[in-house]
Amino acid sequence: MEELRAALAETPVTGVVVEYRGRVHELLIKQESLNPTGSIKDRTATGLLAEIDRKEPLVPGTVLVESTSGNLGLALARLARLLDCRFIAVIDEKTPHPTRRSLVASGVELKFVDEPDGQGGYLLSRLRAVRELCGENAGHRWTNQYENAANPRIHRETTGPEIARQGGAELDAVYVAVSTGGTLAGISAHLRTVRPEVRIVAVDATGSLVTGGAGGERLIAGLGASRASTFLDSTSYDAAARIDAAHTVAACRMFLEDTGIALGGSSGSVLCGYLGDLDRGHRPRRALCVCPDGGGKYLGTVFDDTWLNTVNIAGDVKHAIDLFRGEGLRFRLD
Ligand SMILES: Cc1ncc(COP(=O)(O)O)c(C=O)c1O
Repeated sequence: MEELRAALAETPVTGVVVEYRGRVHELLIKQESLNPTGSIKDRTATGLLAEIDRKEPLVPGTVLVESTSGNLGLALARLARLLDCRFIAVIDEKTPHPTRRSLVASGVELKFVDEPDGQGGYLLSRLRAVRELCGENAGHRWTNQYENAANPRIHRETTGPEIARQGGAELDAVYVAVSTGGTLAGISAHLRTVRPEVRIVAVDATGSLVTGGAGGERLIAGLGASRASTFLDSTSYDAAARIDAAHTVAACRMFLEDTGIALGGSSGSVLCGYLGDLDRGHRPRRALCVCPDGGGKYLGTVFDDTWLNTVNIAGDVKHAIDLFRGEGLRFRLD
């Protein structure tokens, strides 16, 4: 386990110049897509497994179970393989198809949940399925990313210190996507201690219950949830931004056009959280956006015009892009 933990490498930050509304801003994007399985969840998976191993050692053949929108599943699949464990991933309709194929190719057993949970997602149905699986099979071990304190802890110990170091003394604002809230809670716990002046913005989805608000349909995989986070409280962040799918897609597409970098959906939401701050006159000297994954697995959704028509947001995306461009929005690699 110590070796797995030690193998977590620092992810890079890339400097981006943002032109918007006649001003020029300095932004850093932290590219979590450069973790071994392509997302920030490689960190979370390492922390979760180390913790359940500490409680009762994982042995070859142990069956791991987790509810996941996909990224944690990919990360756990890799580590389960290294540990000779079996892994059952409970997924739903919103799990991107490329992620499902990668999971199957990694030897993961999939349990598919197709019953909406009445809160704009499938999380509550997935959790029910996990409890049933573990109830029927005494030896199954649930990593439980929603309640296991090892989730925020690994981000307090790795992601947070990296951000403080890479952001440097000028860093004054950080934007973080929330679902379980583990990433944000960990980053916040570190920054509040060493850099209390840094503004922390929770970036949530419209229709998510993580940072309050009312439940509703959500289209962006990995962002938001059908219930409040067990890791966050009112001191964890200074402001919450709830972003809709159309603005998220607009930001992902403009960022790709301008820089050649395809970010994942929730990263587009994070960029929108940052732009919303600029709109409201919060102008960080140096901001950092944590970008949880890359765009590859969203070629059939965020970057696909047919999908935009299917979910009925094509017009809204065009409108959002026109407005952003009308305000002079341009991204440029520094
Ligand atoms: C793409 C993506 N963005 C953001 C998040 C949110 O991370 P957390 O669960 O730590 O709040 C996740 C988590 O699954 C994710 O997969």
